Amino acid sequence: MTNGEWTPRIVAFFCNWCTYTAADLAGVSRLKYAANVRIIRVMCSGRVDPQFILEAFAKGADGVLIGGCHPNDCHYSEGNYKMLRRFQLLRRMLPEMGIENDRLRLEWISAAEGEKVKWAINDMVEKVQALGSLGMPGRFQDWDQEMKSLEQKMTTPEEKEVAYAH
Ligand code: FES
Repeated sequence: MTNGEWTPRIVAFFCNWCTYTAADLAGVSRLKYAANVRIIRVMCSGRVDPQFILEAFAKGADGVLIGGCHPNDCHYSEGNYKMLRRFQLLRRMLPEMGIENDRLRLEWISAAEGEKVKWAINDMVEKVQALGSLGMPGRFQDWDQEMKSLEQKMTTPEEKEVAYAH
């Protein structure tokens, strides 16, 4: 919150060799990007497991930004292509969970592109701000509550088995 106005929480996974350095460069060059982004440094975008992304959303992130080396520039040869495949897969899955596509973003940003990192962060914050809070922790509580009341309604082990089969 800033002056009572809600602002989104963005978790950013940045590759050490490119986007993380670009974010550093942006800082040194006094290029201002939104302060509500928490940057996590990873050694390659290919290190970002889909589980990290889902966990960030589950723990309260409103958006997740991943920054990696440009195609053919990955230090581990194809980590960024692996990330791209995971990203495409997640973009198909996330809407099913009520998470809009604009909440997950992948950008190729080299170490020299301080301006681009600033643009990507600010543009993402703006888009997620327009979407509003995701509120996954609250949704999990609601789902847990639904499961509990469903369980209470079922009396026999057979009924429970049938309910869990769906
Ligand atoms: S080393 Fe940067 S994306 Fe692989």
